[in-house]
Amino acid sequence: MTLSDSAEHICCLISHLELCMSCRTHNLAEQAESTHDQSSCVKWIDAINFKLFTDIRVHSALTGVSFGKMSVKRVVVVTGASGLLGRAVKAEFDKAGWTCVGTAFSRAQDGLEKVDLTERDQVEALISKHNPSIVVHSAAERRPDVVDKRPREAEVMNVTATQYLVDACAKQNVFVLYISTDYVFDGKAPPYKPTCQPNPLNAYGRLKREGEKVVLKYPNSGVLRVPILYGQVEQLAESSVTALVEGVRRHPEPVRMSNYELRYPTYCPDVAMVIRQISERHLSDPTFTGVWHWSGADCMTKFAMATAIAELFSLPHEHLCADDTPSSGATRPHDAHLDCTELQSLGFGNQTSFREGIKAALQPYFS
Ligand SMILES: NC(=O)c1ccc[n+]([C@@H]2O[C@H](COP(=O)([O-])OP(=O)(O)OC[C@H]3O[C@@H](n4cnc5c(N)ncnc54)[C@H](OP(=O)(O)O)[C@@H]3O)[C@@H](O)[C@H]2O)c1
Repeated sequence: MTLSDSAEHICCLISHLELCMSCRTHNLAEQAESTHDQSSCVKWIDAINFKLFTDIRVHSALTGVSFGKMSVKRVVVVTGASGLLGRAVKAEFDKAGWTCVGTAFSRAQDGLEKVDLTERDQVEALISKHNPSIVVHSAAERRPDVVDKRPREAEVMNVTATQYLVDACAKQNVFVLYISTDYVFDGKAPPYKPTCQPNPLNAYGRLKREGEKVVLKYPNSGVLRVPILYGQVEQLAESSVTALVEGVRRHPEPVRMSNYELRYPTYCPDVAMVIRQISERHLSDPTFTGVWHWSGADCMTKFAMATAIAELFSLPHEHLCADDTPSSGATRPHDAHLDCTELQSLGFGNQTSFREGIKAALQPYFS
């Protein structure tokens, strides 16, 4: 190992373990600085070394990963960073001190890099330029009705572009985390564990499943499935949860709301936290790969969500009519509840209640 490799390993270790130097080392550092005394400096360095190498041993014992094999860079590329989930993911990595490169397409602003993921050359240039240790692939066409209307474009975006990304990452052994959906399941036998057999009911679910297969053929990868998402939106229509406000506001006109499909609205910052935790775990343990699920805990229909939104913001909701028949448009699973006990058992994640999350997300629209 070269000296610069060692330095990188040490930097990674410090950030990974959130190594906090003991009071003793701080005191010795102050002493060394104030006296310019060589022996104080040596004692300070010895103290740091002792703490560092103790932590290395503890870390190796916990993870089984030897010092020489540890991944080192906290550099992540997030595709779709202008989107609903991607914005939260970028914010989470930024907050945690990662170097995070966000990509976008039509909304490439505020430091996001413009990349058309459907162009192989652009994808290869992105990965070779930044040489990240992790790629979070969040960009997709995720509107089931749009996928039905423009199946070819959706396939290029959801499957072909994913293949380009995997190919580029494989050249540099970069870990790819693909964001997928509960719509890969048919909703007939919930809850679904990551090992359950997918059986998508609509074209969007089928394409996302194809994207999963592309990713999972590459060993250094993971798939995180999530259900219906909401969070800070640029416009209410951006999330199908916040879009419910439009119906609430149509009072007193009667508005039918789906009361058939059972959904588990999930707060984007919670998903972002899980994505960062998976990434950090993978950095310290490269064998941490596979399929995982994350979900909010509240089971609600769209009718229940709209009623809760109205109550939270003291708006009338008698005009909302529960529609107990399956939704029109692309076929949706009745109950594709994702079992997330595997990640929970690792101590990952947070499940913000719907009332708390939606209040935070919608506050700007009601103040
Ligand atoms: N939203 C949900 O309820 C939900 C539920 C389950 C799973 N998911 C999955 O979660 C992931 C994130 O979804 P989301 O709701 O955040 O999606 P989103 O808000 O629709 O964002 C889509 C992102 O893809 C980017 N994009 C589109 N075409 C592109 C292209 N040709 N090249 C590069 N980037 C392109 C968009 O960039 P520009 O906007 O800059 O063009 C945008 O950043 C997706 O994989 C989706 O399947 C979402």
